[in-house]
Amino acid sequence: MAEDTTGAEINMCAFAPITLPFTSNHNAPEGDDNSDQYPESLPRYFLEHYTQKGANIFDPFLGYGTTAFAAEDMGRVPYGVEADGERFEWAAGQLAHWQNIRHGDAADAASLHFPPMDFCMTSPPFMPRGEDWNPLYGGDPEFAGYDCYLERMGFIFVQVAKLMKKDASVVVHVDDVGNVGGETFTPLVQDMKTALSKSFSFEAETTIHWEDAKPDYPQTQCLVFKNNL
Ligand SMILES: C[S@@+](CC[C@H](N)C(=O)[O-])C[C@H]1O[C@@H](n2cnc3c(N)ncnc32)[C@H](O)[C@@H]1O
Repeated sequence: MAEDTTGAEINMCAFAPITLPFTSNHNAPEGDDNSDQYPESLPRYFLEHYTQKGANIFDPFLGYGTTAFAAEDMGRVPYGVEADGERFEWAAGQLAHWQNIRHGDAADAASLHFPPMDFCMTSPPFMPRGEDWNPLYGGDPEFAGYDCYLERMGFIFVQVAKLMKKDASVVVHVDDVGNVGGETFTPLVQDMKTALSKSFSFEAETTIHWEDAKPDYPQTQCLVFKNNL
């Protein structure tokens, strides 16, 4: 069995690996660092397999709106929250459902007047263990450190769970940070699984291989949960 940061053993149930093209139809504005934007093929795959047309799709870490654009394009209805004002405005400026997204903190998701959601797909900001800068608080030193980050992540998904319909699926894109065995290695996949398992039942982990992948980013991971606790 694999272990998280606390040494707790983790269930490693896995779906068969999949291969997707590294494609995006809505790239971030030129000049922006969009290294944390995922390819649109990723939400498209999960939306195709887990949702029907007309479904309400939630992304608590909207970023450049990749989940929302894919959802809208596929006849689903996007909702979401983004803390960064420029990213929020850029996404809102192009979405037909711009009034469904909010500029704010995902920790407030349950009080932002969203309707019940059929599906959630997101990619939270990643944080390396050993650093102070906590991306969930915009680096506020009062909330520094990895433990605070994981605790806040757990809290955010408690709020997300309040929005999700019973038995709705929640897919979280996450990768470990640093090299396995290296001093700065962070088992973020396992730690995210532990943090979210307080709100959802863990279903499986899926490895996604990128077609024509760059050598430094050949594959990624998604965790699949169900809202049935
Ligand atoms: C990994 S990016 C998401 C990228 C997105 N999937 C895309 O393709 O554009 C994570 C996003 O979460 C946002 N974020 C960080 N802390 C947040 C918070 N507390 N509430 C809402 N959004 C937050 C960041 O500004 C960033 O845009």
